[in-house]
Amino acid sequence: MASLTLYPAEERLEGGSRVTFDLYMITAVTLFVVMMLIGLTMRMTQATWLNVNPALFYRLLSMHGAGMVGTASIATTAVMWFFLRKYVGLHLWAFVANYVLFMLGALCVIVSIFFGGYGALWTFLYPLPVHGMGLWSNNASALFLVGYLLIGVGSLVFYLDAAAAIIKVYGNLGRGLGLQWLFGGEINPDHPKAVVASSMVIIANSLGILAGSVVLVMNLVNIYYPQITLNALFAKNLTYWFGHMYINATIYMGVMAVYELLPRYTGRPYPISRPFIWSWAASCLFVIVVYPHHLMIDFAQPRWLTIMGQVVSWSAGFPVFCVTAYGAMTNIHRSGIRWTMPSRLMALSMFGWAAGIVPAILDGTVRNNLVMHNTQWVPGHFHFYLLLGVLSMVLALIYHVLGNRANAVPNSGLDRTGFFVYLIGGLIFTLAFLSAGHQSVARRMATHLPEWTLTDKVGSVGATLVVLGMLYYAIRIIVGLLGRPVVIDTSHAHPADTAG
Ligand code: HEM
Repeated sequence: MASLTLYPAEERLEGGSRVTFDLYMITAVTLFVVMMLIGLTMRMTQATWLNVNPALFYRLLSMHGAGMVGTASIATTAVMWFFLRKYVGLHLWAFVANYVLFMLGALCVIVSIFFGGYGALWTFLYPLPVHGMGLWSNNASALFLVGYLLIGVGSLVFYLDAAAAIIKVYGNLGRGLGLQWLFGGEINPDHPKAVVASSMVIIANSLGILAGSVVLVMNLVNIYYPQITLNALFAKNLTYWFGHMYINATIYMGVMAVYELLPRYTGRPYPISRPFIWSWAASCLFVIVVYPHHLMIDFAQPRWLTIMGQVVSWSAGFPVFCVTAYGAMTNIHRSGIRWTMPSRLMALSMFGWAAGIVPAILDGTVRNNLVMHNTQWVPGHFHFYLLLGVLSMVLALIYHVLGNRANAVPNSGLDRTGFFVYLIGGLIFTLAFLSAGHQSVARRMATHLPEWTLTDKVGSVGATLVVLGMLYYAIRIIVGLLGRPVVIDTSHAHPADTAG
């Protein structure tokens, strides 16, 4: 069972681990601010408050999409590493290699977009990368794809190291997932939830990244040997298998922060259970096969794949989500929780995930998908659970670490104001997208019709608040992480420490 000690000794970051963790998180919050500024520029362009030409808009959209997805991934990888390393022997070099490969990949992506003019979006759908129509060259596309390959190899190195470490302690990934307790037997109450979640992420996301690598290499071959053409539908299936899995994995890595930290702030144990194990096992399978819900309006798609995507859509995210949300609520209820920054952010992350999943499931239903999928309903739902859900999970861990370093749980008036600005801004921003989707405003459009601009303007106001909130977080986090550690004085620890 996760410890109730607020700052357990085995979590302390020292030497290379501390430098690497700080580097991950400082890079992540800096990139989040920059990518949000790019997002704000696009939203204000749609609102006609800024005048960005369409060629540049699509470069910005490519940068924002790839940059945000990649940053969410490295930030949540750091969350997974932070907790998993307590239970199994992870190698620091693998964590460092992932960072270095990510940075090299990011550099390729940035150069291809801002120097090569690449604007075929983060989903690089074949054959768009080879149809630059004078806006970008095939070499720019190739550089973008190589950047993705580097980032993917980095993730695989980290997952392989984590897989080897879990197998060494638990025998295999199935036992890490807790499958031995699915149908009976006494569950080991000390089996870490972080190991269950990590095993699932390793299995599902490695498959997604491998699918992505295949289609990336196929695209590269096509760029330099155009006589070798790809089957566009097959390429799209592989691309969405990768894209869906990669971004979903960020939630499953980020949620480890809630499993590990929430009981420490409520002072109440949050034990592992059979429904918990069932839910992670089910989601592990479902999340791998759910991606066809992105291809529901592709008429050429084999019918059985669409039906599978439809049926699984209704169930894929539910098991883990229900068990986590119910578990978190019962853990908080009447616990006398202290509402400080980490606990507040964890509660927000549960809300963001819960509220964001509802419009996603609506869109994952064929009848609705026919009219909603190419509207701003889609950025509405994914911004909801990424901005308010996943980012809050990451911020909760960073604030927790800041508390450990300062030897006082962060809860200043400025922190609370930053939180409030981010929350209100996030709600206005995401609801404006959903409202636009409800009115059938098309997504991914650089230029909007005059009738569409009301929601664009409301969304821009919300986005400005989000940027201000994130800017505050970033400055606070960078200063806090780079500051000198305070010598730990256990008399300041949470009263719940005594329970651990
Ligand atoms: C202030 C915060 C943000 C702003 C202003 C913003 C703005 C935007 C805008 C205007 C779009 C294009 C919408 C359209 O299709 O018409 C977009 C797309 C997107 N955003 Fe954001 N965003 C923000 C935060 C985030 C975050 C936190 C993430 C992920 C962690 C994210 C990931 C994406 C992705 C993946 C796309 C889709 C790109 C595509 O369609 O190819 N954004 N964003």
